[in-house]
Amino acid sequence: MTNWPAHVDVRDVGPRDGLQNEAAVSVDARVRLIDALSGTGLRSIEAVSFVSALAIPPMAGAEDVMARIDRRPGVTYSALVPNVKGAERAVDARADEIELVVSASETHNRKNVRRSVAESLVAARDVVEVGHGAGIAVEAIVSTAFGCPYEGDVAPERVGQIAGHLLDAGADRLSFGDTTGMATPRRVDDLLDALEHAGIASARVGLHFHNTRGTALANAVAALERGVTRFDASIGGLGGCPYAPGASGNAVTEDLVHMLHDMNIDTGIDLEALLGCARLAQELVGRELPSALLHAGARTRRYAS
Ligand code: COA
Ligand code: ZN
Repeated sequence: MTNWPAHVDVRDVGPRDGLQNEAAVSVDARVRLIDALSGTGLRSIEAVSFVSALAIPPMAGAEDVMARIDRRPGVTYSALVPNVKGAERAVDARADEIELVVSASETHNRKNVRRSVAESLVAARDVVEVGHGAGIAVEAIVSTAFGCPYEGDVAPERVGQIAGHLLDAGADRLSFGDTTGMATPRRVDDLLDALEHAGIASARVGLHFHNTRGTALANAVAALERGVTRFDASIGGLGGCPYAPGASGNAVTEDLVHMLHDMNIDTGIDLEALLGCARLAQELVGRELPSALLHAGARTRRYAS
């Protein structure tokens, strides 16, 4: 007897988390990808980040991207920000939602946003104020929630504490990022246990997996069994390192959606349309992406016997 939810919300993060890890593509290409994604039934797209262009060159021009997309009613176009300045830029560019990123590991936070976790948590209140002042929701993303590239294991209890602080700061929602692809179903269980212990129910949690070690879908199933219904994934698996052929990055949106549909879990997304976007993503970055479904071809709907 399984305990899967009837509906899952998938957010495509390809235009941001995916493309930030690829060689930079043009504003025009980013707009084309976002507009193609908004035609698939996806209700949530992480479109850009408002960060330093020196830190993340492929995300330069985020204002132009936001100004040029064809905004489809019912679709939330969100923007990742590291600080108040980013939140102000997101509001000015009419993002529908702000995602504030804070790392669970001290070293990663310092390298990523050049401040301590404590400083990020203090600034979170100001970021929330900017978002709420403009009438938009603020999601807090705790990255390196399953492990850190510098520190290794990150205690789930620490992640739970940071999450609690972010809720206290006024964040409307929480997501947890497996920045390094270290998560396994065991780590998913441990984190959800720690969050529950901190008073944060799985139903309020969003998860963001990377498929670096091939565990993204296994992690998603483990989370579904615990009642998680929000997942991030990246079209085509955009985000693998362009300098490491074959390396997997983010969880692949179409692979996740295919699996969910076959488990009778509704997403509201048209899988064939999603595959069209995955082909477009390949074309835009000029390399083969790790999507399993794209390479399974005709077996998408008709399985070989
Ligand atoms: N967007 C654009 N520029 C920003 C900015 C933002 N969100 N925040 C700060 N800056 C600018 C400042 O205005 C300042 O510009 P100036 O030199 O022209 O005055 C400059 O960046 C340095 O400001 P400072 O506050 O000292 O920032 P920093 O150099 O310590 O860098 C971040 C901090 C957060 C801006 C930078 O590390 C960053 O963008 N990190 C994001 C990393 C990321 O996106 N990671 C992947 C997603 S998890
Ligand atoms: Zn990511």
